[in-house]
Amino acid sequence: MKYIVPALVVLAIGSAATAAAVLGAETDAVPTNASPIYGVTLPDGYRNWELVAPALEGDPLHELRAVVGNKIAMDAYRIGTLPFPDGTVLVKLAWKRVQSPEFEPASVPGAATTVQVMVKDSTRYESTGGWGFGRFINGKPVDQAQHETCFACHEAQVRGHDYVFTRYAP
Ligand code: HEC
Repeated sequence: MKYIVPALVVLAIGSAATAAAVLGAETDAVPTNASPIYGVTLPDGYRNWELVAPALEGDPLHELRAVVGNKIAMDAYRIGTLPFPDGTVLVKLAWKRVQSPEFEPASVPGAATTVQVMVKDSTRYESTGGWGFGRFINGKPVDQAQHETCFACHEAQVRGHDYVFTRYAP
């Protein structure tokens, strides 16, 4: 009996290591729903996150937009923490802007167009200001060429605000 226990421990450790090696090989692969370059995926539950601010795009897209943030993002906005801490996630939802069928002067959201994501990880995304980017249509990431434009624009316009355009709407 004395010898069985160590033998089982050795077996358990051995198989755990094998399992980890197998799992490791699988998790290293970039998931197909992740953005090119950055490997950013749509975060769970973002539709229920708090609003940072709405936005409107006049021409050429005619979109209504809303930027929402996870708890780390909202805490940073409220306190005014800059740069945003690691773990910050910002999501921009967008819809076609359509005329209200009930009241002509009003604009309301039509079909959803894109969902865009920024994830802060200052180590992983060191070369792009600490931000990873993802742009999704119908839940699927768009191509690499579009992802090459993200940081360039954010860097050119809002470097001084940690590459984030949206301010907290009062
Ligand atoms: C030509 C400039 C430009 C490019 C390119 C661009 N963005 Fe933005 N982005 C903006 C502007 C302006 C806003 C502010 C909200 C708005 O007006 O829609 C914004 C807002 C965002 C936000 C909300 C946080 C913030 O900074 O306000 C996210 C998330 C985002 N963009 C992701 C992306 C991703 C992902 C890409 C690449 C696929 C991208 N952006 C490419 C201009 C750009």
